[in-house]
Amino acid sequence: MPSSSARVNASFSDREVAALRGDFPILTRTVRDDRRLVYLDSGATSHKPTAVLDAERTFYEQHNAAVHRGAHQLAEEATDDFENARATIAAFIGAPAGEVVFTKNATEALNLVAYAFSNASPNEQPKDARFVLGPGDEILVTEMEHHANLVPWQELSRRTGAPLRWLPVLAEGALDLSDLDTLLTDRTKVFAFTHVSNVLGTINPVAALAERAHAVGALVVVDACQSVPHLAVDVATLGADFIAFSGHKLYGPMGIGVLWGRAELLEVMPAFLTGGSMIEMVTMERSTYAPAPQKFEAGVPNAAQAVGLAAAVTWVEAVGIDRIAAHESALVDALMNGLAARPWVHVVGPPPGTPRGGAVAFVVDGVHAHDVGQVLDDAGVAVRVGHHCAWPLHRALGVTATTRASVAAYNTFGEVEALLRALDRVPGIFGIDLDEADPDAGLGVGPDARAGSVALRGEATREAS
Ligand SMILES: Cc1ncc(COP(=O)(O)O)c(C=O)c1O
Repeated sequence: MPSSSARVNASFSDREVAALRGDFPILTRTVRDDRRLVYLDSGATSHKPTAVLDAERTFYEQHNAAVHRGAHQLAEEATDDFENARATIAAFIGAPAGEVVFTKNATEALNLVAYAFSNASPNEQPKDARFVLGPGDEILVTEMEHHANLVPWQELSRRTGAPLRWLPVLAEGALDLSDLDTLLTDRTKVFAFTHVSNVLGTINPVAALAERAHAVGALVVVDACQSVPHLAVDVATLGADFIAFSGHKLYGPMGIGVLWGRAELLEVMPAFLTGGSMIEMVTMERSTYAPAPQKFEAGVPNAAQAVGLAAAVTWVEAVGIDRIAAHESALVDALMNGLAARPWVHVVGPPPGTPRGGAVAFVVDGVHAHDVGQVLDDAGVAVRVGHHCAWPLHRALGVTATTRASVAAYNTFGEVEALLRALDRVPGIFGIDLDEADPDAGLGVGPDARAGSVALRGEATREAS
């Protein structure tokens, strides 16, 4: 792995990236007729370095016990491992350990907050007014959300009668803030939005949006799934009240996610799941609950996965998150430039030169994303195709599906080239007339596109997964 003392804003040298790739056993395997695996789907889930696999294995081989539940030595060791993991992960995002709640994934973390609002809203005492929602209140989201940060708020709206509002997306992939004052008002109880879009790559101005939300008394929930693995996130300066992210996108195991929340809010926020391990005292009639974060961790927790995620974070820190960010940014620039040189390809999201996250989604004129994905897969290039759990965004873009390449620390410029070379086979296979390609056709976003007036030529109607 590269030394973190190297220049923080430089992408990895070939030698550095080769050393770093050596930490990932899966990258040596072949796919589809013995082709070298070119994995450009880390936005869906990243691969795991040996240190993570070893940490999980050691937990089970040496310390396996139910944490917070036993007085024997293994239980003590397992509890220490689990709580040390919490401290490591908290430090990585600039938080005290007590502000990190372990969940199964980001989806569960976001549901935890949404359910807390819902649980505060029925006729129960005591409750904190900030979490109580009713028909006179509002919930604000954006049109670029992953379903994980949309559906729970739709459900909360349905349960409480508080209407759901959303900020639309502009043609170049930024949020349309022109109506922010109308949409974000003193009726807004919660504003939930993504830090980095998993489709557009757009990086949203969290601090500025949070300041506006706080000025009207709203709580701010940030989906940090596509930011925490790719750029330095410090909750002390971010401006959010809660952030959620998944371990499996951060080189960690599946089955572990994080909800970070301000201590003061976690303390008054109602519990989500209830049962063992989250209580203080129980009688047959009623129970009182342990302080946060235990209050939100009912049942035997995913301790091995927490330990694995701490190992992942330690790996990222050793490599250097700033260097990872610089390397990924250079890879994305190379990909954006390569795609811009192909007039039959249209990238969604910010234009080349704009800072963006690690995901680049695009449309090939006249070819369904599933077909593009198959051609790439035949060449050993793994990408994601479909609506990437952001169906409303794709509707706003006027497309049914996109092909998305997403990078991680272990990707190389050669792999970007491999994708572009494989992509060059697409027009020939699907009989696309390159002379007809219109580089300026772009993709429609905004009211016209939403009304269906901008359609992709030859777009198949097959619905994406
Ligand atoms: C922006 C964003 N939010 C939320 C999620 C949901 O993550 P998970 O399925 O791990 O809960 C994803 C996963 O793709 C994502 O990209």
